[in-house]
Order: sequence, then C-alpha cells, then structure tokens
Amino acid sequence: MMKQITHEELMRLAAEARDHSYSPYSHYRVGAALLTKDGTVYQGCNIENASFTPTICAERTAFFKAIYDGVRDFAAIAIIGSGELPAFPCGVCRQVMSEFCGGDFVIIVSNRDGSEVVTETLDQMMPHRFGPKDLL
Ligand code: THU
Repeated sequence: MMKQITHEELMRLAAEARDHSYSPYSHYRVGAALLTKDGTVYQGCNIENASFTPTICAERTAFFKAIYDGVRDFAAIAIIGSGELPAFPCGVCRQVMSEFCGGDFVIIVSNRDGSEVVTETLDQMMPHRFGPKDLL
C-alpha cells in the first residue's frame, strides 16, 4: 500500500533539504523533495563549485540519487528556493524531468517562506518538450 504524503509535507522535506545547500557563490539556497510512485522521497540540494559550471541544481541532485537507486517512476517534486519568488525549475532540470517523467508529473514550487506556492504539471511547465519518444 502506497504511503500517502501531502504537498505540504513534501515541501517541508524540500525545506529540510535546502539546509544542506552548498551555495557560497550565489547564496541562493535550493532544496528539492522528489516523490516516487511507491511513496519514497529523495531529497536534493544545489551544490556549487568555484569553477561555476560544475554546479548542480537541487532537482537534479534528487533525481540522480533516485536514478542511481534504480527508481524510474516519479509522482511529484517540491522545490523551495531562498528568494522572494517561487523557485521554478531551470530548463536543464525540466529536461531531466522530461527524460523520466510523464506529462502528469506534479511540480510544486515555493518561495523562501512558503508564502507563495505554485503547483503545475510537467505538461504545463514544459510543453512540446524533446524526450525519449522523439528518438523512436
Ligand atoms: N538552482 C537550482 O538548484 N535549481 C534551479 O532550478 C535553478 C537554479 C541553483 C543553481 C545555483 O546553485 C543557484 O541556484 C543559482 O543559480
């Protein structure tokens, strides 16, 4: 039986993940909590680098932890930043979501204090995306 988790609880786990952020250059702290279809949650944070380009976003940290574990079925992700605006995922992270998620994958984004929360599907956030289907 799948463990139930609310969007609020998933966002709380994203905020917990944000505490792990390594972001000495941008000082923009991001946390993500990725919910698998069997109810497991993978947390991730952004990890920056003095050489800048090796920086990885919180969302991809969470996805790659899950992919390494062999998980391929995802239900939702909560993302929280440290700015005034909700932390919408960057294009690269949306592309990674496109690889592993269906159009009904739920993306919940929040600003730093949770006063603004937006919930959309991957279809809404990245229409006409390139993905595995295009290589058939
Ligand atoms: N960042 C994320 O973690 N997720 C996003 O979707 C956008 C950007 C991080 C990367 C970098 O450490 C900092 O935010 C500023 O770009």
